[in-house]
Amino acid sequence: MTGQVNDRAKAARHLARVLGRGTSLDNVLNGKESPLCLELTYGCLRHYFSLAAALDARLGRPLRDKDLDVYGLMLVGAYQLQRTRIPAHAAINETVAATRPLRKPWAAGLVNGVLRKLAGASPSPGDAQQPGSADAAASEHPPWLRRRLVSEYPDLASALLAANNQRAPMSLRVNRTRIAPDRYRHALRQAAVSCTPSWLPESVILDKPQPAASLPGYQEGWFAVQDIGGQLVGDLMRGQLQDGCRVLDACAAPGGKLFHLLEAGLALDVTALDISSTRLVALADIAQRLGHAQFKVVEADATRWQGPGPFDFVLLDAPCSGTGTLRRHPDIKVIRTPRQVARAAALQAALLHNLWRLLRPGCTLLYCTCSLLAEENDRVVEAFLNVSGAAGIAPIALPTGRATAYGWQMLPTEPATDGFYLALLEKKP
Ligand SMILES: C[S@@+](CC[C@H](N)C(=O)[O-])C[C@H]1O[C@@H](n2cnc3c(N)ncnc32)[C@H](O)[C@@H]1O
Repeated sequence: MTGQVNDRAKAARHLARVLGRGTSLDNVLNGKESPLCLELTYGCLRHYFSLAAALDARLGRPLRDKDLDVYGLMLVGAYQLQRTRIPAHAAINETVAATRPLRKPWAAGLVNGVLRKLAGASPSPGDAQQPGSADAAASEHPPWLRRRLVSEYPDLASALLAANNQRAPMSLRVNRTRIAPDRYRHALRQAAVSCTPSWLPESVILDKPQPAASLPGYQEGWFAVQDIGGQLVGDLMRGQLQDGCRVLDACAAPGGKLFHLLEAGLALDVTALDISSTRLVALADIAQRLGHAQFKVVEADATRWQGPGPFDFVLLDAPCSGTGTLRRHPDIKVIRTPRQVARAAALQAALLHNLWRLLRPGCTLLYCTCSLLAEENDRVVEAFLNVSGAAGIAPIALPTGRATAYGWQMLPTEPATDGFYLALLEKKP
């Protein structure tokens, strides 16, 4: 059995877990996947809606739930045929052979038949029969999300939908407590890693993504991998703070914005709080690699945590739908539901209400999400302003993105950034 056959079987199993149980890809991957397995898994999810439409039209009848891995394998085959340069005969043969490591040899004929139909195919008249599925297949978005993006970004919808289906760039934040950004760029050049600068001196965009551990200075903590949009959030925070400030990072793990703040060269008293012990372990590991120890850690539920406050600055980087990060997390297009978005918005409101009590009058809370949806962004802020007499909005202007009614929205149509929303809430003295 070749490794490539096993890679296809493994990708099929991963897809079955995402599709069947709604498990996020981050929780499915174990870090031991080959580049081919990752390419197949991510690719199938990025193009799930068109691949599924093409398969369903040729499948006859749906597979049983317990055979979702076979369906995953067909997606893997369809992806290779439609989106890669792998020759059709090799793609089909290796995919059919992967029914054996899946322990479903009975499915070999079925997979072979469907993929051969697809390989010879012009689009079938049966493609995209479900209501809304033609648009879903063309845009690679679920109908509900496509409708929302079209209605909330009427001037930008097709560019936004297209951008969401691209691969995200890999960007780094140079850890200035360990190495000067210029010296790090020099180290990258020496290692023949080509890169482009970005808006901040500490930001680097790699021309070609590669494993972080293979870059110069990984063990030495010279850099962290962080989206440029996230770095712009960190930079905005830095502008709000001065030596001696008491800062609460209320949803801190795994620490991207926290560590950026600690690298700002300010003497801050920082508390990093998160509800997830697993994610706090990841935060501690990254802190150790980057050499950051100057902060307190609290494991708690920020909808209830009582302090001790007050804080001079609160960062609420809220859990959200992640719809601003579809390039990095294409599984979100497949598993996220409108109900989950509504639940996230309720949690965001609860977090905001509790954390507001911990903010010192005259000070600022930065609310941010990596969502593109107003329901989690301006609507949450608006509802809060309506009930809190003491809150005002401070203006934001970043080098990329656009103003919204209450804050600022960065967009993945700017290739360097994910979609981030920010609003600065001031507590009246
Ligand atoms: C968007 S992530 C934070 C990313 C982080 N700020 C960074 O820059 O790396 C949201 C975090 O909120 C945490 N979270 C979710 N519900 C929470 C709650 N009720 N209280 C505290 N943290 C919570 C999650 O565990 C997750 O780590």
